[in-house]
Amino acid sequence: MSDAMPLNFAAHGFQPQCFALVPCAGVGERAGVGGPKQYHPVAGRPMVAHTLAALAAVPRLSATLVVLSPGDEAFARLLPHFEGERGWVTRTGGATRAHSVAAGLDELVARGAQPHDWVLVHDAARCLLQPAWVQRLIDACDHDEVGGLLALPLADTLKEAVPGSSPARVQATVSRAGKWAAQTPQMFRIGLLRPALLTALADEDTAAGITDEASAIEHLGHAPQLVPGDWANFKVTWPGDFALAERLLQLQP
Ligand code: CTP
Ligand code: MG
Repeated sequence: MSDAMPLNFAAHGFQPQCFALVPCAGVGERAGVGGPKQYHPVAGRPMVAHTLAALAAVPRLSATLVVLSPGDEAFARLLPHFEGERGWVTRTGGATRAHSVAAGLDELVARGAQPHDWVLVHDAARCLLQPAWVQRLIDACDHDEVGGLLALPLADTLKEAVPGSSPARVQATVSRAGKWAAQTPQMFRIGLLRPALLTALADEDTAAGITDEASAIEHLGHAPQLVPGDWANFKVTWPGDFALAERLLQLQP
């Protein structure tokens, strides 16, 4: 654990702020909907509108920053009323998710976020998010030295495929004991996550393996907390995922 990280502010009657950061600059190649999947309609609204509504319903979040790609025209058209006191936008998304998140952290700092403040990074494409899950993560991590992420212990037996096999064939069964599937939000102090991402992105070999915030934090030798998430908090990724997301959203109160 880094000695530089400020701890136990609550004991001094000081509460750090929490910000949400939503990377929304992907192209949605695997979803195959002919455009960025975050704007595809799900249950009558663009997918990201559901995501942002869930975050807006968490009072502890001071603001939500959405990171768009520089040429994005869809967001302002589809969500014209998002920007305001608790809704912030930056058009500085990058080539990878990690670059988009790093650019978002710069923007939070430019808007006054402090190193001890928390950032909750959440995929635009996890549109089934429930405010109660976000609150569960905040409650679990608020006094944690490192921070943590929503995640699920693996239920299925895990197979590794023969590299390049088509149709895919099993090379090995990998033990699922102790394995978790990482979800978002992922909650870390801005003063820890920002240098962690910059360090990881500076090294080409490391950068490719940084597919979430926790992996950058782990790279510095820290151990993020695994906070039980929910099966329904899946990331809409493949064409068939939209129908499932739609059905689940229609069941929500
Ligand atoms: N994302 C981003 N900037 C990128 C790539 C991804 O902000 N350069 C965002 C996506 O918009 C999404 C989240 O990161 O909300 C998770 O990424 P993923 O599900 O992989 O979305 P895409 O990269 O858009 O999809 P694909 O990998 O299939 O192209
Ligand atoms: Mg991607």
